[in-house]
Formats: sequence, structure tokens, C-alpha cells
Amino acid sequence: MAIVDEEPLHDHVDQSFEFVATLNRRRVRARTPYSTSLAELLRLRFGLTGTKVSCDEEICGACTVLLDREPVSSCTFLAYDARGRNVTTIEGVAEESGELHPVQQAFLEQFAFQCGFCTPGMVLSAVALLEKQPEASREQIVDHMDGNICRCTGYASILAAVEQARDELNRPRT
Ligand code: FES
Ligand code: FES
Repeated sequence: MAIVDEEPLHDHVDQSFEFVATLNRRRVRARTPYSTSLAELLRLRFGLTGTKVSCDEEICGACTVLLDREPVSSCTFLAYDARGRNVTTIEGVAEESGELHPVQQAFLEQFAFQCGFCTPGMVLSAVALLEKQPEASREQIVDHMDGNICRCTGYASILAAVEQARDELNRPRT
């Protein structure tokens, strides 16, 4: 077998890129290495530390953010692949006025958190679900939230919060 002595990739090229996207309703830009995960970019460059990192390997859901309103695990998602897209973190879920999203409000009212580490990911996952399936059943909620792990609260109150938010979002407005 021939051994080819190749130069390392990117040896002579700039190893960073310009990240430009819409983040929590605002246009942002930052230069960052190609290897930066979306979670690192959000936390370290934009100071959005509501995005938590726990397993760092797409198991626990703590790092969930919305990309074009779809949940993704930002710990394993390259920032490069989020260029030009619409990113929502927990800091961007409430209204600009400060009014909480019904999912956030329901988590508060149902005491659906203890240490709170899983909560941003849980909330964002639930927001995405209820946008897509406004009348999601209990089973569909359980199924959808399967990728979000909580180590302390227990899932009953989390489930109750998502159901409360679903009902609130479906309540006829006068
Ligand atoms: S930190 Fe990303 S899934 Fe656990
Ligand atoms: S509230 Fe502590 S991990 Fe869920």
C-alpha cells in the first residue's frame, strides 16, 4: 500500500469563518473556528449561558436550542451549519416585553424544575412540539420529550407543565 504524505487540511487557509445568523430576533455576527459547536458559540461568544452543556454527546437534551424552530442538540451541532439560520435560545423565548412564554409560565406554576439545569432544553423542546402539534396528547408529549433527561425533578410535574401550556395555547382568546 502506498503511503501518501499529504499536507494537513487547511494548512494554508484561514481556519475560522464569519458566523452570521439571526439569534433571538437579532442579526449577529462573530468570527470563530470551524470546529466551534453551536453551544460553545452561544455560551462563550454571545454570553447566552442559558444553554446548558451536560453530556456533550447528544444524549441528555440540556443543550437544546431551536434552529428554524426545530430542536437541535447544540453540543454536537457545528456553528458553521447554523450560518444564515434562525437560532432561538431560552433567552429568546419570552416576548420582548418580558412576558413569559406559556411553556415557561407553566413550568413555574407546576414547579417543574429543581436545579434547573435541564429546564432550558425542556422548555425549548416543548415549545417546538406545541408549535408543530398544538394538540399533542400526553403520549405524544412523552414521546417527544424522550431526549430530554432530568436528574432531579421527576417527570410528572414536567409533563403537567407541558399539558398546561398546551391547554393555555389552545384556549380561545376573547
Ligand atoms: S449536552 Fe448536548 S445533549 Fe447533552
Ligand atoms: S431540574 Fe435538575 S436536572 Fe432537571
